[in-house]
Amino acid sequence: QQTNGASHTLSSVVRKKLQGYVGFANLPNQVHRKSVKKGFQFTAMVVGESGLGKSTLVNTLFNTQLYPPKEDVELTHETSQTVEIKSITSDIEENGVKLRLTVVDTPGFGDFVNNEESWKPILDNIESRYDTYLEQENRVNRRRTMDNRIHACIYFITPTGHALKQMDIEFMRRLHTRVNLIPVIAKADTLTEEEVAAFKERILADINYHNIQIYQAPAYEYDDQETIDENREIMSKIPFAVVGSDKEFDVEGGRRVRGRQYPWGVIEVDNEEHCDFVKLRQMLIRTHMEELKEYTNDVLYENYRTEKLSAMGIQQDPSVFKEVNPVQKMEEERTAHEQKLAKMEAEMRAVFQAKVQEKETKLKQSEEELTLLPSPLPSDTTTCASGPTGQLSSSSFNPRGIHLN
Ligand code: GTP
Repeated sequence: QQTNGASHTLSSVVRKKLQGYVGFANLPNQVHRKSVKKGFQFTAMVVGESGLGKSTLVNTLFNTQLYPPKEDVELTHETSQTVEIKSITSDIEENGVKLRLTVVDTPGFGDFVNNEESWKPILDNIESRYDTYLEQENRVNRRRTMDNRIHACIYFITPTGHALKQMDIEFMRRLHTRVNLIPVIAKADTLTEEEVAAFKERILADINYHNIQIYQAPAYEYDDQETIDENREIMSKIPFAVVGSDKEFDVEGGRRVRGRQYPWGVIEVDNEEHCDFVKLRQMLIRTHMEELKEYTNDVLYENYRTEKLSAMGIQQDPSVFKEVNPVQKMEEERTAHEQKLAKMEAEMRAVFQAKVQEKETKLKQSEEELTLLPSPLPSDTTTCASGPTGQLSSSSFNPRGIHLN
C-alpha cells in the first residue's frame, strides 16, 4: 500500500517489510546497557506510628541494614513537637546493577495527643520536592536535574483488627493525589489469618467510601496474559499484610528462613502462605519500581505542575499549543507591574505640578492686588502686619504663610 507524500498523515503510516537485517532490533540492548551504566534511583517514604516496624520492614525489603540497629543510635534525640522528615540514602548493588535508594522517614507521625494535622508536614515535604523539580525544569541549563520526588509512600496501618482510624483516613485523603500510596497492615503476625482477611475488607471498604486512590498497577494493551494475572494477584493482596524481621531461624526440612519465632513455630517472612511480604517486595522492587516512578512523573507531578502554574495564572492556549515558560511569564508580569507603577507615578507628578502651578498663580495675583491697594493710614499700622520700620511692606506681606522666591 503506497501513500502519496502530500497526504502523509499519522493514520496513513504503513508497514514495510525489511529486506535484510538492519540492526535496530538491538535498541532494547542499547537501552539496557545504558541504564545499567547510569544506575537507578528510587525514593520511598515510610509513614506510620512509632514502633510499627517501619525500619525493620525496609531492612527486610532490601536485605541490608539501611537503618542502623536501634542500640547503635545515640539517645540524645529530644522529643520533637512536630512530625520530622528524615532521609537515608544508600547505594546498593545487585549483579552489577546499581540502585541509589533513599528512604524518607517521618518520625513523630501519629505520636502526639492531637494528631489532626500530622499529615500536613508530610504533604508540604512532598510538594516542596515537586517545587524543587519544577524549578530545575525551568532552569536554562537542565543538564544536572536531580529527582528527589517521592516515588512511593508505604503507609503502615496499626494491626488493630477493627477499621481504619480517623488519622489514617485523613492522611490518605490528603495525600492520595500527590503520591503513590501503598497501604500495609503492620506486624500482621499479631493477627490470625481470619482477622487479617476481615481487617483487609474493612480497610478497603473505608478506602472506597472515602474515594481514596491507592496505587494500582496500570494495565497495558500489550501486556501478555501472564503479566495481567501477575498484576491481578499482586493487587488482590492490597493492603499487604506484612511481617518484617532480620533474624533467621532453622525450620523443618533443614531450611534457614527469615522470620519471627513463636512458641508454636516460626512465621516466615518470605513465605506467601504466611504473609504478603513477598507480594509487596515483588511490586515495589521486582516488577513496578519503574512504573511507580513513571506514574509519579507523568500523572502525580504533572497534575501538581498544572495546578501550580494555573494558580499563577499561566494558561496554555490550545489553538497555539505552545508550551508556556513560567519563568518568562513571571518576568513579563513583573515588567508589566513596574510599567504600571511608573505610569501611576508620572500621573501623580503631573497632578502635583498642576496644583503647585495653580497656587503660584493665585499668590502672584494676590501680590499684585496688594500692590495696587492705597497706602493705609499710619494709625492702621498697629493692627496690620508691618515691616521693621513699622510701615506696611507689600513684598513681606505673606497672607498664606507661603514663601515665594
Ligand atoms: P520508630 O523508629 O520508633 O518509628 O519504629 P519503627 O516503626 O521503625 O519500628 P521498628 O522497626 O524499630 O520496630 C519496633 C519493634 O517492633 C522492634 O522490636 C521490632 O523487632 C518489632 N517488629 C518489627 N517488625 C515486626 C513485625 O512484623 N512483627 C512483630 N511482631 N514485631 C515487629
